[in-house]
Amino acid sequence: MGLGNANRDPRRYPGPDRLDLAREPAGHFSFGRGPHYCLGASLAQLEAEVVITTLCRRLRGLRLAGEPVRHTTIFSGVAHLPVAFAAGPGT
Ligand code: HEM
Repeated sequence: MGLGNANRDPRRYPGPDRLDLAREPAGHFSFGRGPHYCLGASLAQLEAEVVITTLCRRLRGLRLAGEPVRHTTIFSGVAHLPVAFAAGPGT
């Protein structure tokens, strides 16, 4: 199954290419399903939470500075994500 494609089905996820952090959860296939469900799902979600929170805290004014370049293999992801932010103390 193409997990990345399944997660972008517009019949289930309106505007699937739009980052909408307030989106109503509708389930997803990112960690698979059934007996081979990802053993590291909880760790991966915790890591993502820490990374995103830390980036937003440390990089003031973090914003998109160009068009994201997507890649699609079995998973779907971002190959390049140009961003800009204000120079800071780098704590
Ligand atoms: C964002 C990060 C991750 C994603 C998107 C992801 C995704 C997946 C998916 C889709 C599967 C199911 C594959 C299948 O059905 O054959 C899987 C399986 C698995 N994942 Fe992850 N994974 C992630 C992170 C991790 C981490 C951090 C670990 C370990 C520390 C891990 C360990 C495993 C293992 C051991 C399996 C095999 C489970 C089995 O076959 O019973 N994954 N993962």
